[in-house]
Amino acid sequence: MPLTHAKSNDLQRRATAVMPLGVNSNFRFWGEGITPYVQKGKGGYLWDVDGNRFIDYRLAFGPVILGHAFDEVDAKVQEEIQKGVLFAMTSELEVAVMEKIVAMCPGVELARLASSGTEATMHAIRVARAYTGREKIIKFEGMYHGFQDYTLFSTYAPAEVYGNYRSPIPIPSSSGIPRALNELIVTLPFNDCEVLEKTLRRIGYEAAAIIVEPCMGNCGAILPEPGFLEFIRSQTSQYGIVFILDEVKTGFRIARGGAQEYYKLIPDMATYAKALGNGYPIAAFGGKREIMETIGHGVAQGGTFNNNKPGVAAAYATLEIMQTQPILETIVQRGSRLMEGIQKILDEAGIPACISGYPAMFSFAIGVEKVTNQRDWGKSERDYYLRLVEAATERGVMPDHDPREPWFLCYSHSEADIDETLNVMQDVVRNVAR
Ligand SMILES: Cc1ncc(COP(=O)(O)O)c(C=O)c1O
Repeated sequence: MPLTHAKSNDLQRRATAVMPLGVNSNFRFWGEGITPYVQKGKGGYLWDVDGNRFIDYRLAFGPVILGHAFDEVDAKVQEEIQKGVLFAMTSELEVAVMEKIVAMCPGVELARLASSGTEATMHAIRVARAYTGREKIIKFEGMYHGFQDYTLFSTYAPAEVYGNYRSPIPIPSSSGIPRALNELIVTLPFNDCEVLEKTLRRIGYEAAAIIVEPCMGNCGAILPEPGFLEFIRSQTSQYGIVFILDEVKTGFRIARGGAQEYYKLIPDMATYAKALGNGYPIAAFGGKREIMETIGHGVAQGGTFNNNKPGVAAAYATLEIMQTQPILETIVQRGSRLMEGIQKILDEAGIPACISGYPAMFSFAIGVEKVTNQRDWGKSERDYYLRLVEAATERGVMPDHDPREPWFLCYSHSEADIDETLNVMQDVVRNVAR
């Protein structure tokens, strides 16, 4: 039975009258007549306003690590919000959250809270510039570090406009970004030590920071090649550049201590949001004591909502659960089965595909042998991927509609959900013509 979308379509019409594109964040717009509007979520499922149930692999772009409406987290939030939500004053619960972040994240000696991943990267960039006295920022094509202007370059433009591989042109991802900022950003292809080395020989001593996602969490979950992150570490040390690891997607997801624990890698600074609060609004950034101690000593940082009680209470409960229960181990086991199952389905159908990422966060690129950066990924069969995803969604399995966005798993996804997903994938791969 095809799903009905009448109520989503009605709500889209109402929403479009009061919001640009009918949504409050551009990425949520899938198109006219196909943008879903949500009613509720529980565990690994969400229901749209038409009452259709989906196994949710978007998980709000990654924050939901335990599951939607997770009872223990919500109970802690409810208990705490009875005592007031905002004071512009520091609480004991908030200090306990910071202690957990510092204990769990290997490279974080001091940290500060923020309210979103965008703010976390924005603050980290200011601190890096202040600490080094330099202004240029180096980022990698296809990586996304939030909506602040400094790094919103070469995120999702077609790779053809990026210029030559060895001397890329930074492409602003939006009108409204001041042209002057073009002078302060350098964009490079991911995973290429030689191009990075050559660039640093030229501008290494002008660079305040290299900001990098541990894997391309906003472009098919492309993994770092062995040694690439370590090369960034050694080169940033050599040139006195602040190495910012953007763990907004990987933090508290691919390991308790994020990519730093996973890769045994200590950056100078790291940024967090998403899984930190299982969906409640909270973010953090932190790093080496010497760098973070610039804050308050000539470096400004703050925000009215930085310790909002729902976010702080949710982070406390989420981190406590992650520290004491086999949450990520369970996700690894189920996610591995899902990744292997999808690979097998594609192999058996004779469809070449590279599956990439971690069990908690992965994707696959079709029709390509190997993918190491956004330019390679751009050559994959994205239209076919999208048709598979659309067909799976119509069958109640919902990855994101944007092929760049990984599939996310949460603790509440059951073995039965994985079975159901693999059955659906088997069917759609059989039935959707390539
Ligand atoms: C790696 C990375 N950094 C930063 C951000 C921005 O986070 P937020 O949407 O909370 O502002 C995102 C969002 O997807 C992200 O994936």
